[in-house]
Amino acid sequence: MRLKDKVVIVTGGAKGIGRAYCLGAAAEGARVVVADLADPKPTVKEVEARGAQALGVESDVSREADTQRLATETLARFGRIDVLVNNAALYGTLKRRPFMDIPLEEWDRVMSVNLRGLFLCARAVFPAMKAQGKGKIINIASSTFFKGVPHYIHYTTSKGGVVGFTRSLARELGEFGIRVNAIAPGFTLSGENEKNISEERKQANVQARMLQRAEVPEDLVGTLVFLASDDSDFITGQTILVDGGGSVH
Ligand SMILES: NC(=O)c1ccc[n+]([C@@H]2O[C@H](COP(=O)([O-])OP(=O)(O)OC[C@H]3O[C@@H](n4cnc5c(N)ncnc54)[C@H](O)[C@@H]3O)[C@@H](O)[C@H]2O)c1
Repeated sequence: MRLKDKVVIVTGGAKGIGRAYCLGAAAEGARVVVADLADPKPTVKEVEARGAQALGVESDVSREADTQRLATETLARFGRIDVLVNNAALYGTLKRRPFMDIPLEEWDRVMSVNLRGLFLCARAVFPAMKAQGKGKIINIASSTFFKGVPHYIHYTTSKGGVVGFTRSLARELGEFGIRVNAIAPGFTLSGENEKNISEERKQANVQARMLQRAEVPEDLVGTLVFLASDDSDFITGQTILVDGGGSVH
């Protein structure tokens, strides 16, 4: 029980990889807050069915009032915030297209969810973590930044921003005992995103890996638990690529 009684917020926790983070944290004894635009209740029920406590907060990470309410409701229910997993992003529903064809509004929306969302959620939990003298913020980046994936330039750029945000915030928050790290997953079969990728590209992803198989959400849970737990207390400012070695050239 490496996360026993820790209070872990997972944004975008209703579906896909975020749901796996919620279940994985619960299995290690955490109390889990499922924050999502989509209905968080099914994931809350799944966590509770495993004997752990959970709270669902329907919220949009790009709206400041929602992120403040997320922190307030978490504190009202559990009294503390140990871990924030900044996982929510516009990703699976994005169409792949050349950069000249990306509508300006889509570029802005990607930045507002994938980057402003991190900024707002970190600000919302900071006072509680500061008062506790400890906290962990785990941001979800992507291997696409390291590879320079085309036809997805707003997404790839936003995930590069996640790496910069992680390093700068870690530098700012070290004095408060708050660790800030990132996980960069490779292409992971997580539901929605599978509709936007051809079989050829899926295979090409697998073949580019040192470990030649498809990546699934559960492949990311071990690293998430490690970064959320006390085992990683002297690690901050880092981005860990969890992609079967696909981004090493
Ligand atoms: N699946 C992959 O191949 C892959 C690879 C690298 C990185 N990632 C990253 O991992 C994370 C999860 O990926 P996924 O495949 O599960 O994505 P997904 O698109 O399947 O799920 C994203 C979740 O975020 C929620 N969400 C979207 N906008 C939101 C908002 N404004 N406020 C709150 N919640 C919001 C959605 O409702 C959904 O539950 C994302 O940050 C993604 O960029 C995924």
